[in-house]
Amino acid sequence: MTPVSGSPSEFQWGVATAAFQIEGATGEDGRGVSVWDTFCREPGRIREGHNADVACDHYHRWPEDLDLIAGLGARAYRFSIAWPRVQPDGSGPVNAKGLDFYDRLVDGLAERGLNATATLFHWDLPQPLEDAGGWLNRDTAARFAEYAAIVAERLADRVALWITLNEPMVVMAYGYAFGVHAPGRALMLGALPVAHHQLLGHGLAVEALRGAGARSVGITNNLTPGHPASDRPEDAAATKAFDNLLNWQFTDPILRGGHPDLGVDLPHVRDGDLAVISAPIDVLGVNYYNPVGVAAPAEGDELPFTMTEVPGAPPVTGMGWPVVPGALYRLLTTLKSRYGDALPPIQITESGCSYDEALDDRPRIDYLSAHIDAVRAAMNDGVDVRGYYVWSLLDNFEWAEGYGPRFGLVHVDYATQRRTPRASYAWYRDLIAASGPGG
Ligand code: NOJ
Repeated sequence: MTPVSGSPSEFQWGVATAAFQIEGATGEDGRGVSVWDTFCREPGRIREGHNADVACDHYHRWPEDLDLIAGLGARAYRFSIAWPRVQPDGSGPVNAKGLDFYDRLVDGLAERGLNATATLFHWDLPQPLEDAGGWLNRDTAARFAEYAAIVAERLADRVALWITLNEPMVVMAYGYAFGVHAPGRALMLGALPVAHHQLLGHGLAVEALRGAGARSVGITNNLTPGHPASDRPEDAAATKAFDNLLNWQFTDPILRGGHPDLGVDLPHVRDGDLAVISAPIDVLGVNYYNPVGVAAPAEGDELPFTMTEVPGAPPVTGMGWPVVPGALYRLLTTLKSRYGDALPPIQITESGCSYDEALDDRPRIDYLSAHIDAVRAAMNDGVDVRGYYVWSLLDNFEWAEGYGPRFGLVHVDYATQRRTPRASYAWYRDLIAASGPGG
């Protein structure tokens, strides 16, 4: 066992991935079935019928992938641990071979002088837990904390930063409200307990992680700022409702111990839950990609807003997402003004874009450069940001979009699994080298 290297005062330049999107080997070494395995088998769910059975074959090729990260001169690697590898049923017996894989991985990181940022839940819920109600079931929060303890007891000595959940908003909205991600439920506002039970799971996991010796713990929220579609007061009101439901609902309970005005009752919230959820954290992980235009709802809409184009017709990425680096600056300064001293240091745990397959990916360089400048501007204005991870190291399985989108600094030829660094890889390497330890 090699201890974690790298000084904590260094800015954590890094790259990020997630287990289901890169590992493949879904049937190997005792791994259980996740909701995403199931979802991929349902006709019409994933573009072109793709699945993640092989993905980037990272489960077998991880040494090569870690060498690519080391070649960037990065300080940190954010990866996720697949719950179904560790506990195939989501509760009960531990699968030793699954834990062994992550043990080798964190040793491999330490050998290369890289800090491990480990995400415990990046959407691949064990199917048996979904069969019992998934995140609609309060019990899933307790199961998550047990799983967190199991992993931390094995890895806490070598993980620099634990991220409990990745983007709980997306799980609630895409997974349970709109039905476009696993598990494919379309409950609209009926999905609200999913937000609360995930946050409860986060709070219980923070306690479990600290009990197992974790040195630094946080959560990753994707914050997608709403931009009013016009200056009509109805659009401003809708934008406020959007931000409360999709952004602040996932940060206020943690950092303020209360909910923003969601316009509905929350009967699933029990006495004492908010005290658990608001346990202090060391890092707020922020994933930022783009803002969203927001307008007043149409007559009869269930939601109090409609999502629309961002005003001003900004350029868009290959996903069609508007490129607005200034929105990242405003988001970071808003976090600071909203939470004040209760805001822990931030790490940008994902930032990136998809374009076409080209190896000479100038648009990605422009995107990353502008967003890193936005982070630096926020830091100059007093926001404490301590890390930035590019999404993603590799092209990978982009959920319902399959393998079409290309988010990687490194191109993957899925037929041969050959990895080829793009121009953005060399650009990022040079930026890290030029930035020095303070960022
Ligand atoms: C955020 C998610 O965490 C990640 O899994 C996804 O691939 C990127 N967004 C891009 O959509």
